[in-house]
Amino acid sequence: MTTLIRNGTIVTADLTQKADILIEGGRIAAIGQGLVGDEVIDATGCYVMPGGIDPHTHLEMPFMGTYSADDFESGTRAALAGGTTMVIDFALPAPDQSLLDALKIWDNKTARAHCDYSFHMAVTGWRQQVFDEMAEVVDRGITSFKHFMAYKGALMVNDDEMFASFRRVGDLGGIAMVHAENGDVVAELSARLLAEGNTGPEAHAYSRPAQVEGEATNRAIMIADMAGVPLYVVHVSCEDSHEAIRRARQAGKRVWGEPLIQHLTLDESEYQNPDWDHAARRVMSPPFRDKRHQDSLWSGLMSGSLSCVATDHCAFTTTQKRTGIGDFTKIPNGTGGLEDRLPLLWTQGVGTGRLTPNEFVAVASTNIAKIMGLYPKKGAVLVGSDADLLIWDPEATKTISAGTQQSAIDYNVFEGLSVKGLPRVVLSRGSVAWREGAVETPEGHGEFVARAPGQPVNRALSEWKALTAPRPVARSGIPQTGV
Ligand code: URP
Ligand code: ZN
Ligand code: ZN
Ligand code: ZN
Repeated sequence: MTTLIRNGTIVTADLTQKADILIEGGRIAAIGQGLVGDEVIDATGCYVMPGGIDPHTHLEMPFMGTYSADDFESGTRAALAGGTTMVIDFALPAPDQSLLDALKIWDNKTARAHCDYSFHMAVTGWRQQVFDEMAEVVDRGITSFKHFMAYKGALMVNDDEMFASFRRVGDLGGIAMVHAENGDVVAELSARLLAEGNTGPEAHAYSRPAQVEGEATNRAIMIADMAGVPLYVVHVSCEDSHEAIRRARQAGKRVWGEPLIQHLTLDESEYQNPDWDHAARRVMSPPFRDKRHQDSLWSGLMSGSLSCVATDHCAFTTTQKRTGIGDFTKIPNGTGGLEDRLPLLWTQGVGTGRLTPNEFVAVASTNIAKIMGLYPKKGAVLVGSDADLLIWDPEATKTISAGTQQSAIDYNVFEGLSVKGLPRVVLSRGSVAWREGAVETPEGHGEFVARAPGQPVNRALSEWKALTAPRPVARSGIPQTGV
């Protein structure tokens, strides 16, 4: 049984061409003209692109006294509805928990996944057991390790722990990731705001000014450089953080920045809304920023100083958000976006001329696959690649609404925004996964994708670090003391 995608225009990160795609056994078997197949999908008027990859989700995550409301079932359903064919979620051990136990728990969450997935591992505490287990985690195909510089007293690690962990990740050929906010300063500012009677959701934003992110990003970059490990900075929301990344990249450091679709499209005025629920639903870390920061993120994507766009999908219901009435520090942090990432990125990126269609593919899929060690299995339209494909109708429109979304929550932070550009058909390893408004891959179709350590960037960085490592000076003689 073969499938043929006919009459479309293939758009990849580096090429646009009119050609058909033949799929066999879940993979791309041929690309060319005049191909024949058993089942034919007509892509007239559409772009055919690699499926989106979301490198940052939190599905069914225990956090701030509750669990994020979308699990691997509703989360991957939302992903496919928006053209995303793979998610990378975070296994999150408690600070004193074994990494392998956490991995077992995350493995058990995925039985109903509609699309493929992988994991990052979070390092939330530091001791010999963590050091030892990291090797086993890498052996199981998880090569990226996340460190929280915020959430003091819960997930946060200190600089000495981060440096030790970064060195270990570097030695194992993985990549270090950071949530970069200065957790000590956030804790101080939060306490002061509460003491002054600033209890509403707007105070969440006041407690996390751009400086806390800029400082932590720069610190993480320097620590990673000293540890000799490539660094991936999640949810870059402001110029202060982007500037640190830009400067580091120009200086030859191996660092990538990931803005979220939320920070690219929504701004801090959301927190001034007189409706408590409206503002609280948008509480996430880092918070939404002003337009100046938004422009910086877009220009980073255009110039290449920022590499990919994610969602940090971590959705909480209104009832869950209301835990924080009277104390903004108790509002569960997180927003959704899985279904809306690609349509919004296309509309506000390609639709405005800020991104070319090829750049769209790069930041939504291919760059992520390359950084995360998935390329060319994922993120590519090449013979042999998984047939995770997006048949994208650039003329299709809709207005985003919670009433029609796949996510389990009762609102959508993008409610009322119009998009032009939507998936018509989505394929996951050759199977139709989304068509005419419905998910077609069964629950359990999604598979874990293992990733290999020691990617080209790791090898290049190790070689450079070995070449420039401190060495003792060879001397012919040592002066006698006391002479
Ligand atoms: O507010 C956020 N971003 N919630 C999810 C957890 C995290 O910090 O990534
Ligand atoms: Zn984070
Ligand atoms: Zn996150
Ligand atoms: Zn389902």
